[in-house]
Amino acid sequence: MNLIFVGPPGVGKGTIAKMIVEKFKIVQISTGDLLRAAVKEGTGLGKKAKEYMDKGDLVTDDLVIGLLKERIAKPDCENGFILDGFPRTIPQAEALDESGVEIDTVLNFTALKETIIQRLSGRRICKKCGAIFHITNIPPKIEDVCDKCGGELYQRDDDKIEAIVNRLIVYKKQTAPLIDYYKNKGKIVDINAELPLKEIFENSIGALE
Ligand code: AP5
Repeated sequence: MNLIFVGPPGVGKGTIAKMIVEKFKIVQISTGDLLRAAVKEGTGLGKKAKEYMDKGDLVTDDLVIGLLKERIAKPDCENGFILDGFPRTIPQAEALDESGVEIDTVLNFTALKETIIQRLSGRRICKKCGAIFHITNIPPKIEDVCDKCGGELYQRDDDKIEAIVNRLIVYKKQTAPLIDYYKNKGKIVDINAELPLKEIFENSIGALE
């Protein structure tokens, strides 16, 4: 089962990906997470990527394609994977096609702009295990403490309002054209991400059966 999750920033791709991964025992590959790890480690790639990420711009195609190809070649991807946040541009989608990777389904998550801004501005993530919370929608039992591992929760640098606004503009311009790209291949299923998590999860599973 090889899947792509597409949709605007903050629509809930990462949250649903973690639920699907648990159910189907496949891996989640988030290029955002891979890039944030490179930034944290202070690698050359991380230093280059940080500038783009903090502003909410896309990192250049060559850097991200290289990173993704390296990750997808690892043995844990053999049973299937969710590409969460990749491809983000037509050249990235073409590079994926050229690499010979077969994609079964592309889930296209949709939500209103106001919902997205509310979700991103209240998001908190565990520093240790990466679990995703929201200060009001999905609050942790203890403020700023992860329910799953007790790790400290933090707010992403690009979850500030200026970067959020830019990310939405960038999405419309550079990523939304992918919807037609995969529609033409007959692979897209639209998922209404305005709903409660349980329903989005069930609809996503339904789309895969
Ligand atoms: P990336 O990390 O991919 O961020 P993104 O696409 O902007 O997506 P997010 O992680 O912000 O949102 P999400 O849809 O996963 O939402 P989540 O589940 O967390 O990319 C970051 C940056 O890296 C990019 O800007 C770019 O610079 C770079 N980058 C990454 N990939 C790249 C690529 N391929 N090419 C070039 N550059 C790349 O949910 C959001 C919040 O809502 C959470 O708080 C959650 O608890 C809450 N929530 C979720 N669902 C619900 C619900 N149904 N009801 C209520 N609350 C909900």
